[in-house]
Amino acid sequence: MTQQKATNVQWHHGEVTRDDRFQLMGQRGTTLWFTGLSGSGKSTVAVALESRLYEFGKLAYRLDGDNVRLGINKNLGFSAADRTENIRRIGEIAKLFADAGIISLSSFISPYRADRDAVRQLHKAAGLDFIEVFVDCPLQEAEKRDPKGLYKKARAGEIKNFTGIDDPYEAPENPEIHLQTDQTTLAEEVDTIINYLKSHRFLAGI
Ligand code: ADX
Repeated sequence: MTQQKATNVQWHHGEVTRDDRFQLMGQRGTTLWFTGLSGSGKSTVAVALESRLYEFGKLAYRLDGDNVRLGINKNLGFSAADRTENIRRIGEIAKLFADAGIISLSSFISPYRADRDAVRQLHKAAGLDFIEVFVDCPLQEAEKRDPKGLYKKARAGEIKNFTGIDDPYEAPENPEIHLQTDQTTLAEEVDTIINYLKSHRFLAGI
């Protein structure tokens, strides 16, 4: 748990409520948290889902490991402490987006269960939903795909602490959604998520 450093600070409420915003947007802000190995398909599914939601007139916004590490988290690497801080910051950002009424699609390896659970708690404490999507894919298959050539480098010892090779990945125990991207098509995976969102009334009106 990160220590609160600043003292004498408190949340300042506005006049427009969260419900007002959700009403305005015609959707409930929420966080979909994609977790899985590099190359498992997190970003691919998030991109396709974002498009499908857009077609329905629903606003989503993608927060993606590589993108975020080029900006707000450019000062973080891949040590355990840096990965934890990476996820903590994104968790806070995703929470703000959800509070704003946006469906935030967060795609990060997020290898540690405790870090993901901390983000879940953060959302829960704020009365927001956290939908953990386990993008499950055997290491062997992710390594075969190797879209960025990083597994090859990790096997050659050119990248240290690479998740799945010489760094751990702790799979979710009770994810809300479990995809197995070596067994289903992208369209089926998007359908699974859309059906979940519909049946849990996140997309009122579609
Ligand atoms: S996380 O572990 O902190 O959640 P994050 O999702 O932000 O990771 O970033 C992972 C991406 O960074 C990978 O898809 C890959 O492109 C790149 N990367 C570079 N070095 C590593 C490494 N040592 N372990 C995992 N991913 C790495």
